[in-house]
Amino acid sequence: MFVVAAVTIEAQPPTQGGGRGGRGAAITPRTAYPERPPGDPAAIERGRALYGVNCQFCHGADTRGGDSGPSLLRSSIVLDDQRGELIAPVVQNGRPDRGMPKFAFSREQTSDVAAFIHTFKAAGYDESRLKPASIIVGDAKAGAAFFDAKCAACHSTTGDLGGISTKIPDERMLQQTWLMPGSGGGRGGPPPVTLKPVTVTVTLPSGEKIDGTLDRLDDFAVSLTTADGTRRSLRTSGDTPKVEVHDPLEPHRDLLRTYADADIHNVTAFLVTLK
Ligand code: HEC
Ligand code: HEC
Repeated sequence: MFVVAAVTIEAQPPTQGGGRGGRGAAITPRTAYPERPPGDPAAIERGRALYGVNCQFCHGADTRGGDSGPSLLRSSIVLDDQRGELIAPVVQNGRPDRGMPKFAFSREQTSDVAAFIHTFKAAGYDESRLKPASIIVGDAKAGAAFFDAKCAACHSTTGDLGGISTKIPDERMLQQTWLMPGSGGGRGGPPPVTLKPVTVTVTLPSGEKIDGTLDRLDDFAVSLTTADGTRRSLRTSGDTPKVEVHDPLEPHRDLLRTYADADIHNVTAFLVTLK
């Protein structure tokens, strides 16, 4: 049917401290991230590997949290940690009663993982504006595979979506546009793409068919504009006359319910490569 869904997918600025749930801890909202010198690249790489195997499953690839663990970006432990000294007790003892297992990590391993986790604040956070700097956290290759499986029946990366990221350079708007085309305008701006209108076919009891673009449909009437520009309004009662709505975006609404977070990140990461 004819329902416009507005979808807003935005990373939340990590100003709140604590994981989700809060669990009663006193949390001081923060307005600025601590200054931190860039970590040692070798340590970060080792940490990335350890994190990927041991932590990502619960805390998410981007440390923003997952199904089984809170966002580390908003953790005051992580915020105050310098080189793993505050993260270490959590990792080494776990919080088994709350779903965080313990890990037999050496001090070096813990500080490597900490170095990796700390890269997200540097990379994912624009201190001057309290805004995440990028939402491109997915894997473009996985996004390409997902695209081939779920989108390529209707779209082509060289045809209609060729150069889409040049057309829509804003990452958030690009993401919102592919999730629900037409919704990307958001805050007052026009949607970045012009969509084909929703059309309707009304079949009268006589068998006569009237086609046009749908203006309005409710339980009592259907209004449409035919190809020659004539506006028609017809009373409806139950199934008479027969009203068939063709919404080009139906597939997008159906797909919307099927995406996992990772799919969303991956597809966006792929689409930004289409210059
Ligand atoms: C099986 C899921 C799971 C895995 C795997 C996991 N965590 Fe956790 N983690 C949690 C949960 C759940 C909590 C929240 C516990 C609580 O509420 O006190 C947590 C809490 C934390 C916290 C404390 C956040 C805070 O502010 O209270 C840190 C730091 C942390 N995890 C780091 C890690 C690191 C590093 C790894 C990998 C070495 C890891 N976790 C692996 C589930 C997990
Ligand atoms: C069954 C067909 C179908 C599938 C599957 C589909 N789309 Fe669409 N998509 C459409 C239609 C129809 C439009 C609206 C085009 C119009 O009105 O001009 C659209 C619009 C878009 C737009 C707006 C840009 C433009 O040029 O109009 C983007 C971006 C987009 N889709 C991306 C995707 C992605 C990514 C997937 C897979 C996750 C996907 N679509 C799956 C049919 C589909």
